[in-house]
Amino acid sequence: MKYTRLTDDLFDYLCANRSDADDPVLEKLREETAKLGLDAIMQISPEQGSFLTVLTKLLNVRSAIEIGTFTGYSSICIARGLPNDGRLICVDANEEWTAVAKRYWERDGLSGRIELRIGEAVTVLEQLDSSQTFDLAFVDAYKPDYPRYYERLLPLVRQNGVIIFDNMLWGGSVLETPPSEASVEAVQTLNNTLTNDDRVESVLLPVADGIRLCRKR
Ligand SMILES: C[S@@+](CC[C@H](N)C(=O)[O-])C[C@H]1O[C@@H](n2cnc3c(N)ncnc32)[C@H](O)[C@@H]1O
Repeated sequence: MKYTRLTDDLFDYLCANRSDADDPVLEKLREETAKLGLDAIMQISPEQGSFLTVLTKLLNVRSAIEIGTFTGYSSICIARGLPNDGRLICVDANEEWTAVAKRYWERDGLSGRIELRIGEAVTVLEQLDSSQTFDLAFVDAYKPDYPRYYERLLPLVRQNGVIIFDNMLWGGSVLETPPSEASVEAVQTLNNTLTNDDRVESVLLPVADGIRLCRKR
């Protein structure tokens, strides 16, 4: 098996070995989000955030969309990778959590690059101007809707653009037969679709809870 099984110590090691390991804004946001209790588990992992920033820069992303913002960690990591005139649309249904995100965008000087759309994500996606195109989409919201997010995002992403889905191992439950709940079934369905879909080239990476990176052909 060509992989290294992670332990807590190894995870700490890899988190420490990133360029933004000592970033004060991200650290403060982690601390504040942790105070939310169990909901804090929704925040992406630190190395995943660094990965998003590096990837956004590497791909010269100018226009991005995020589905599922919560308190803002992933949005900050994507927005930091954009040029000054770049644009990130953040979609989330929750005003309370995204109010925290807004404060941190302001603190990090990113407010000018980010536009927040509050609402149910499938509806917001359907209302987007179809002439609008994105270089990158990051999906981290309601798992049962993942297949719907995919079909609505794909036409909006430019050729050679990327869609990234978070939680595509869903805590290992993707191996369940039959799936125990709608979230598991949706993630399994989407993984299966993506593997066999000629419209994209994709890879499932063991970063955090599994991220699926899809390049639109
Ligand atoms: C896993 S969290 C996102 C974490 C975020 N990416 C981060 O880095 O902290 C999922 C978010 O999706 C939002 N959400 C869940 N269902 C939604 C829906 N149907 N429409 C819009 N947003 C939704 C929740 O309000 C929550 O903020």
